[in-house]
Amino acid sequence: MSLYRLAWPLVRRFDPETAHALALWALRRRLVPARRPRPDPVLRRHVLGLTFANPVGLAAGFDKDGTAVDALAGLGFGFVETGTVTPRPQAGNARPRLVRLEADGALINRMGFNNAGATALAARLARRRHRAVVGANIGKNRDSTDAAGDYGACARVLAPLVDYLVINVSSPNTPGLRALQDRAAVDAIAAATREGARATRGDGGPPVLLKVAPDLTADDRAAIAACAADGTVDGLIATNTTIQRPDTLRAPDRDAAGGLSGRPLAPLATRVLADLYRRTGGTVPLVAVGGIDGPDAAYARIRAGAGLVQLYTALIYAGPGLVREVVNGLADRLRADGFTRVADAVGVDAASHEAPA
Ligand SMILES: Cc1cc2nc3c(=O)[nH]c(=O)nc-3n(C[C@H](O)[C@H](O)[C@H](O)COP(=O)(O)O)c2cc1C
Repeated sequence: MSLYRLAWPLVRRFDPETAHALALWALRRRLVPARRPRPDPVLRRHVLGLTFANPVGLAAGFDKDGTAVDALAGLGFGFVETGTVTPRPQAGNARPRLVRLEADGALINRMGFNNAGATALAARLARRRHRAVVGANIGKNRDSTDAAGDYGACARVLAPLVDYLVINVSSPNTPGLRALQDRAAVDAIAAATREGARATRGDGGPPVLLKVAPDLTADDRAAIAACAADGTVDGLIATNTTIQRPDTLRAPDRDAAGGLSGRPLAPLATRVLADLYRRTGGTVPLVAVGGIDGPDAAYARIRAGAGLVQLYTALIYAGPGLVREVVNGLADRLRADGFTRVADAVGVDAASHEAPA
């Protein structure tokens, strides 16, 4: 049993947001013991013009302000996504705003983009030492009336310091944000993001991805796939948290307000991913996130169409040793099926997943 599992009865006595702040503090102080995964050439990835030591990343929202990027990369992640940050710092919604659904291996959050602002993140990223790929996930301030301007402002500040940018238009906790997933809004936001990035970075800017909600309609998914296929954005991240509440939920807090993440999100996130893979004919880099809780889930998501995967909620329940378990287990599963590189496994099962309603 891992040290983290042993400590869990103590961890769960803290309110979830306090426990999270303590975890980040312990990471920064290098108090989190975790054996790194073994480096393995089968896991090396070249995608989005970047090289990843392995395809397993930390999802956005865990280290919004980039306070522990080096320590998180040190756990063995192939990439770490910071953010969501907004141009100006903001407090987010009132606490409590993060709820554990322990019986379901899930969380519900309504954080509302609490963050220290893009400039503070940039200052921290300028000091980072680790070589892992680092992304910044960007959003708009709650009270902003110029969404595209906000994404552009974040891109301008962060582009020189990151390997990729993510346009987040899929959080359920900023009123009106998810309406920005339509074609016209994505076009305007992507253009502003690229323009902001080019203003401060000579090479044309980092790749720009779009993070989508699992609750999109088929028409929305068609529009998003078209944006990626025509190069408006360079890749897609599927998915953010869901506003749906699957019937399988057992925990007493199942009806809390906010976005649901973790194990119950996995079936829906997988179907959205496979649908986007089919719609883009496998030509667009896709990052899978949503309920990935071990090597089997990570491998299944790659087979469903993901070039890269990310985790968040499972880390809260399983602890930092999960990174090594997923990375090593993924290499074992690829080899067992005769694959010599991740790219050959991407999408082999995409046809077998039913499209979401
Ligand atoms: C507490 C919490 C905060 C989050 N904050 C963000 C965020 O700021 N930006 C974002 O794009 N996604 C955010 N997410 C969503 C995750 O990045 C991820 O898409 C989602 O949780 C599904 O993955 P999981 O089931 O592995 O947690 C957050 C999730 C949680 C649980």
